[in-house]
Amino acid sequence: MRLLVIHGPNLNLLGTREPEIYGKATLDDINKMISEHAKNHEIEFFQSNIEGEIVNKIQEASQKKVDGIIINPAAYTHTSVAIRDAISASKIKTVEVHLSNVYQREEFRHKSLTAPVCVGQICGFGAKGYLLAVDALL
Ligand code: DQA
Repeated sequence: MRLLVIHGPNLNLLGTREPEIYGKATLDDINKMISEHAKNHEIEFFQSNIEGEIVNKIQEASQKKVDGIIINPAAYTHTSVAIRDAISASKIKTVEVHLSNVYQREEFRHKSLTAPVCVGQICGFGAKGYLLAVDALL
């Protein structure tokens, strides 16, 4: 299977960014964990702080015939109609992941614009959530 993992804004800061909420693993650590877990599969990692770049990447994934997307849209989860529309248009099975349990946090994090166009959402299990998302797609 060909998988694409997309990390949204500020996730490049993992490891030092609010570790009490997001854990101590860096983005590199998480990507390595995912690679090991999905070792017999082709997997591409992408991180951007820019909404339009994430939209472009999802559009490109359709052309490249990616089989599944794992996305943590981070703050864009709660605001981005553009990322939602890109996921919906791609027709690629997509799993949304959040490190933290967004439903235990501020009310503005309770609404996901992207989850309704994903096959499912995994949140609150830290970095392990990405491995659960791989299993779900496989
Ligand atoms: C997050 C939750 C979002 O609300 C937040 O904006 C993030 C990270 C998570 O992984 O828990 O940046 O997506």
